[in-house]
Amino acid sequence: IELRDGPRDAATAAPSLDLTTRMRRNRKSEWARRLVRENVLTTDDLIWPLFVVDGNNLRAPIASMPGVDRLSVDQCVRDAERAMKLDIPCIALFPYTEPSLRDETGSEALNANNLVCQSVRAIKKEFPDLGVLCDVALDPFTSHGHDGLLQDGRILNDETVAILVRQALVQAEAGCDIIAPSDMMDGRVGAIRNGLDNAGFGDVQIMAYAAKYASAFYGPFRDAIGSAKTLTGDKRTYQMDSANSDEALREVELDIAEGADMVMVKPGMPYLDIVRRVKDTFAMPTFAYQVSGEYAMIAGAANNGWIDGERAMMESLVAFKRAGADGVLTYFAPAAAEKLKAGR
Ligand code: PBG
Repeated sequence: IELRDGPRDAATAAPSLDLTTRMRRNRKSEWARRLVRENVLTTDDLIWPLFVVDGNNLRAPIASMPGVDRLSVDQCVRDAERAMKLDIPCIALFPYTEPSLRDETGSEALNANNLVCQSVRAIKKEFPDLGVLCDVALDPFTSHGHDGLLQDGRILNDETVAILVRQALVQAEAGCDIIAPSDMMDGRVGAIRNGLDNAGFGDVQIMAYAAKYASAFYGPFRDAIGSAKTLTGDKRTYQMDSANSDEALREVELDIAEGADMVMVKPGMPYLDIVRRVKDTFAMPTFAYQVSGEYAMIAGAANNGWIDGERAMMESLVAFKRAGADGVLTYFAPAAAEKLKAGR
């Protein structure tokens, strides 16, 4: 703006606002911004999900999750080592089950030597101090891709819970630290707690996928575990309606009453309001799952040069902290941890 001599032109003159408070003062430089920063992401906040596949020395890319591979058990152990080096406290394991091993009832879930159990044993042997979380649900093992038993187009609740308890026990036996039921059957947290306690696994924690929504954002995950093509129908009779919020509080309340040690909201970014309500209402250790579709959106856009991937990653992760989450399950865990460790 060119200021003229003489009486100032009203349109171009800088207005002298009489402001006592100027919010921009605290943003004037990096040190000042650091000083007033309210939320900080650390490597302690990260849980890293890994996909296990049969094979040897194998890292097989997943097309819809650029940068994420399916790993053979030996490679899983290598990523566990990477997690240790990066100070990531915990990993989560998901199997890709060979189609020939899938059946109506997901019986491979109860095989004490299935891929997840093999991985837990191998990881715990080399890295006993790394936390290992195992998902409890039947979808990686059923021929129809549902989390429970399917009969005449319906998912049976109580019959499914009986199997999930056995799945949890098989995983606890293998050395899993945290059992994470993601199936959304009613009553499964209490039944699993009871089963674990009776079998002498009183120290095994339960992280309940308490408020898990029926979501389009799980698409790439279903590619990764190979259930996308086989899934018949959808999961709306057990996973929550994305329009609901009070219902999430009821779900969380029940899981806490049944013995959950930690609760989770899933998906993450579109449900930060739920994270905040859950944290404020229950003051529980509260986690959020930044799911496969959220990862794919950021990674895909970044790979196309449409957004700055690193910045979008860090911005999305600190948003979980701001919403009240104690931690995040995220496929960005190693990349974020590397950035955090480098102090960037
Ligand atoms: C299985 C399960 C799912 C995810 C975690 N556990 C998929 C589903 O419910 O269909 C999704 C994770 C992701 O999308 O990253 N019960």
